[in-house]
Amino acid sequence: MRDKILAGNWKMNKTFGEAEELIDEIADQLSKKPVNSDVQIIICPPFPYLEMIRDLSEECDIQVGAQNLSQFEAGAYTGEVSAAMLSSMQIGYCIIGHSERRQYFGETDEIIAAKIKQALNEDIFPIFCCGENLTERESGRHFEVVQKQVEAALSDLPADKAYMIIIAYEPVWAIGTGKVASPEQAQEMHAFIRKLVAYKFGEEFAENLSILYGGSCNPSNAAELFKQPDVDGGLIGGASLKAADFIKIAHSFPEDK
Ligand code: PGA
Repeated sequence: MRDKILAGNWKMNKTFGEAEELIDEIADQLSKKPVNSDVQIIICPPFPYLEMIRDLSEECDIQVGAQNLSQFEAGAYTGEVSAAMLSSMQIGYCIIGHSERRQYFGETDEIIAAKIKQALNEDIFPIFCCGENLTERESGRHFEVVQKQVEAALSDLPADKAYMIIIAYEPVWAIGTGKVASPEQAQEMHAFIRKLVAYKFGEEFAENLSILYGGSCNPSNAAELFKQPDVDGGLIGGASLKAADFIKIAHSFPEDK
């Protein structure tokens, strides 16, 4: 059975004190109403809060992830954070290739592939993001666009670490817009991604791969999305900044899947 994963992407939000409050609230609500043991919760706060979130979430079985890492190993790269630094702080996950990184920071498929490799070298699970923008969807090119992104990301993965990858399908037109993909649209793309992965790594590998949906996922639409056979969880932006909403989403996984 595949891992069910709920990851919260806090993006560039919250002061230190606010982040402390939010993680406390999440931990408190989880202790009162734990999620099923097969659901893995991952919180991805801004870099400066990683250690604090890691310490405060230890008791409630929340994993911690970064939102980015450098494509370089180490050295004179001012302002960058390496995979080795994250792993030396026991940070086990990292979002890589988020569309905001592609759009505002010029991340290309090549840079993203290099970042995935850095993460794997340090045994960090990459949460690799892919997804088409509105023009691409409206012109019917969404499968082609996602295929190119996925193939580039998987092109040169070390075979013994490839199993660590987690894919998040995040249609850009749905991110932060309140315009969620329909369960059918999400299912169709997730099944397509799984097929691409099966083609490269085999059926068994693809069956074990967790594919998350991201883009305006909230407490009222999560259950329908998570019911889809190829939707294994969510990468949540806006709704992860409110403890109650995030926890409601965490309780939206179907029992029988
Ligand atoms: P959203 O963001 O849930 O606010 O749409 C999702 C994401 O960007 O990961």
